[in-house]
Amino acid sequence: MLRLDKFLSERGVASRKELKEIIRSGRVCVDGVPQCRPEAKIDPERSVIQVDGKQISSRRSHSYMLHKPLGVVTATEDRSEKTVLDLLPPELRRLGLFPVGRLDKDTSGLLILTNDGDFAHRAISPKSTVEKCYSARVEGVLDEEDCRAFHEGITLKDGTRCLPAKLELLEKDVCLVRITEGKYHQVRRMLASRGKPVLTLHRLSIGALRLDDSLAPGEWRELSEEDLCRVFS
Ligand code: URA
Repeated sequence: MLRLDKFLSERGVASRKELKEIIRSGRVCVDGVPQCRPEAKIDPERSVIQVDGKQISSRRSHSYMLHKPLGVVTATEDRSEKTVLDLLPPELRRLGLFPVGRLDKDTSGLLILTNDGDFAHRAISPKSTVEKCYSARVEGVLDEEDCRAFHEGITLKDGTRCLPAKLELLEKDVCLVRITEGKYHQVRRMLASRGKPVLTLHRLSIGALRLDDSLAPGEWRELSEEDLCRVFS
C-alpha cells in the first residue's frame, strides 16, 4: 500500500506540495470515489486512480539523465547509426524509454530519456516555456550586436522567426545561448544567421536541471522526482 500523494508524485502528475492541494480540492478519485486525503493509502496494483477524470497509469515511470556524446543519433532505433538508447544496458532498454526532444548527432550534453509521455509532453510541447541552455564555440567574433539581435528575436535565413532568446558572451568566440523553443537545428541556425557558424555545441541544462559534472560522455543516472520538478522551475 502507498500514500495517494506519493503514488501521484512518482508518476510525475505534480510536485508533492501541489498534489496536496489537488487532492484536497476533490479532483482525485480512487475507484470512482473522490478522495480528499493526501495520506490515504492505495494499492498501486489494484486501485483505479483518476485526476480530473483522467486515469493515471499504475506503471511507475522512469527517467534518466544522459550525457550524450558526439556521434550518436537521438533516436530509439536506427538502421545504420548508433543511437542514444544503444548506450544503455539491456534492462533499461526494456523500459520503453524515449528521448525528450533531440540533440543533433554532432551536439553533446544533457539529454533526458523517459517512458513518461505526460512528462515529455509538458517539457517539449510548443506551449512549454522551459529554457534550454547551450554552450557554443563559433567561427568569427561574437559581439554586443549579436546579444541584442538574440534579445529581439532572430529571423533565420529561411525567414522563420524565433522567440527572443539570450546570448551571453564568455570569450570572443564562446557563448551561452538560452532558448525556450526547439526548432530544428535552432541554435546552429540562429548563430549562422549572424554569420557565426557553430563549431561545437553542448547542452548544459534544461530548466534548472543541469548536466552532472560527474557524468562522462555516454554515462547516465536515474532522475529523482526532485530532478524532474527542476525541469519546470
Ligand atoms: N540547437 C541545435 O542547433 N542543435 C541541437 O542539437 C540543439 C539545439
